[in-house]
Amino acid sequence: MGMRRILVLNAKGGCGKTTIATNLAAAFAARGEDVALADADRQKSSLGWLKRRPDKSRRIMPLNWTKAGSIGAGTDDLDTIVIDGPGGLNTDHAKTLIAEASDIVVPVLPSVFDWNATLKFLDRISEIKRVRKGKADIHVIANRVNRSSGQLAELEQMFAAKGYPVLGRIADRVVYARHACDGTSIFDTSDARSAEARGQWIPLLQAVDA
Ligand SMILES: Nc1ncnc2c1ncn2[C@@H]1O[C@H](COP(=O)(O)OP(=O)(O)OP(=O)(O)O)[C@@H](O)[C@H]1O
Ligand SMILES: [Mg+2]
Repeated sequence: MGMRRILVLNAKGGCGKTTIATNLAAAFAARGEDVALADADRQKSSLGWLKRRPDKSRRIMPLNWTKAGSIGAGTDDLDTIVIDGPGGLNTDHAKTLIAEASDIVVPVLPSVFDWNATLKFLDRISEIKRVRKGKADIHVIANRVNRSSGQLAELEQMFAAKGYPVLGRIADRVVYARHACDGTSIFDTSDARSAEARGQWIPLLQAVDA
C-alpha cells in the first residue's frame, strides 16, 4: 500500500477539522506508523497541538503547509499524512490541497445551517477533476452529535439522496477539548472516556484503510 494521504476539509469554520485531523494522526501513530500532520491553516492550530504534545507520546512529524509554496513538501518515507485544512478557502486553494490527498474527510455539525453550507462545499469539490475521477474519496462525518441533534437522521437522509452518505457520527464530548489542550488524543490514553469515544472512529479508520 502507498502512503495514506488524508485531507480534513470543509470551507465551514469550526466544524471539527482540527479535532479530526489531530485524532486521526494520533490513531495511526498509535499503531506505530510514521505519521506527519500537515497544517494548511494560517491559525496553525495543529502545529500548536504538536508543540504541546508530550515527549513521551507517539511522535507525529509537523509540516507547515500554511504557505501556498510549501504545500506537498516533506512527505518522503511516511506511512500516513494527515492534512488539517483551513476554513473559508477558495476553490483554487481547495484544489491544491486535494491534489495531495487520496481521502477527503468532511466534518459537519448537526445544524441545518452547517449542512446547507457543507452541501454547497461538497458540490463545489465534487467538480474538481481529481474527485470526479474517483482519485480522492469523500467521507462525510457528523461531528459534535448529542441528544439535541434531533433532525440528524433527516439531514443524513437528505445528504444520502444528494450522493453524500454520512459515514459516521462523532459525539460531542468534553474529552476532545481536554486532549486538545494537552497535545494528546483519544488514541493516546486508556482512560474510560477516551476508550468509549474510540468506537465511533472505526468506520472512518476503516474507510481510509481501504
Ligand atoms: N466531537 C467534539 N466534541 C466536543 N467538542 C468538539 C468536538 N469536535 C470539535 N470540538 C470543539 O469545537 C471547537 C471547534 O473545533 P475545531 O477547532 O476542531 O474545528 P475547525 O473546523 O478546525 O475550526 P477552524 O475552522 O477554526 O479551523 C473546538 O473548541 C473543539 O474542541
Ligand atoms: Mg482548525
